[in-house]
Amino acid sequence: IMTLDFNSTGDDNPLRIFVSAKKDINDLFNKAERFVKNVDQFYRSYDESMLDQNNLNFIDNSVEKIAGIRDVLARNNMKVAFFGRTSNGKSTVINAILQNKILPAGIGHTTNCFLQVEGTDETEPFIVLENQRHNIESVKHLANALNTESLGDSTLVKVYWPKSKCSILHDDVVLVDSPGTDVTANLDKWIDLYCLDADVFVLVSNAESTLMQTEKNFFIKVKEKLSKPNIFILNNRWDASAHELDSLDLVRKQHLKRDKDFLVNDMGVLDEQTAQNHVFFVSAIEVLRARLELEEGKQINTSNYAHGFESRFREFLDFEKKFEQCLSKSAVQTKFGQHTMEIIKMTDDFSRFLMAISAKTIDVRNEKRNQIKIMKDRMQQIKQQFHIFTNEVKLQICNLV
Ligand code: GTP
Ligand code: MG
Repeated sequence: IMTLDFNSTGDDNPLRIFVSAKKDINDLFNKAERFVKNVDQFYRSYDESMLDQNNLNFIDNSVEKIAGIRDVLARNNMKVAFFGRTSNGKSTVINAILQNKILPAGIGHTTNCFLQVEGTDETEPFIVLENQRHNIESVKHLANALNTESLGDSTLVKVYWPKSKCSILHDDVVLVDSPGTDVTANLDKWIDLYCLDADVFVLVSNAESTLMQTEKNFFIKVKEKLSKPNIFILNNRWDASAHELDSLDLVRKQHLKRDKDFLVNDMGVLDEQTAQNHVFFVSAIEVLRARLELEEGKQINTSNYAHGFESRFREFLDFEKKFEQCLSKSAVQTKFGQHTMEIIKMTDDFSRFLMAISAKTIDVRNEKRNQIKIMKDRMQQIKQQFHIFTNEVKLQICNLV
């Protein structure tokens, strides 16, 4: 009987950095939006003879831009995409992470289109296929709904699963399952459609064979479009090694060498040292089974699992921790960094604008100039808050690793 702490996410859950930064930046954008609308109202209160069309356009554009960014920010999440050859266990890995049998998995070619799993505040799961919502009662129902010939391999089915049933979905993570990279010729299309906004990629490899050229080629194509993709390699089905203890170490070394060589030399995305932390040897099926048992309130009896289960389980937890850190960090940087810069630049434009109208307001009542002064201070405050936000997030990210 095993008495491990099976929950990887504790108080130091790295995903929370993204979740709380998202809330903060949304609040800041709401403030900025209210401010810009106030300025708009103020400026339009001037006598018409004083209004300048360029200034009006400037304000209109700013209002529009902020609203646009605010919408994008509110919808932002952290996206992880899983790739690998057919039957390597991609769907099983995702189920293990979700701690539930959500995606259909099985022998042969099972996943025939893209499946994006994300959280919903509703209490029952549902799927959205070609803009149509379908309620699903069970996983079997989902498998049947997906089992139509008409779905092309580039179709996307969105699976909405109750956040209340799954902590990682509660933390704004979206997981994307794909068909095997070996069964399609549509790789370019896949990359354009589903990979460009992925924060982290997980290559699910088969530890019983080896990293294949088709898998490598796919990521080499990804790299052509995304200069530095974050990639983790899972050597799945490592439980199979339990029966071959003599060669265990040797096989592990071989895989590790080949995987590192791929990440460091072929892809050029990591150095030798860090690559080590991006390669794991796991058994998704075991993790899923154990988590389902725990969910039912059972205790884990390790003698029911293949030899070495405990260390494979720990390695899976380690993988989850490392990829969550990487995910949160990458998503915060790419999804919030640029928008923060944009808004800071915009506050400078507003300073100049306010200064210009202040200068023109000499012969207007004093009261208006006072108002402008208050607005200038307010805007400095907002700018300051964005700077503080940026620095705080940077600090939190630094503390991650
Ligand atoms: P496609 O969707 O067809 O591309 O396959 P996939 O990569 O999603 O693989 P899937 O998760 O469907 O798993 C394929 C088969 O391998 C299933 O029968 C799983 O039960 C089994 N499997 C998955 N992970 C493991 C593992 O770690 N160890 C062992 N022994 N079997 C596994
Ligand atoms: Mg699958």
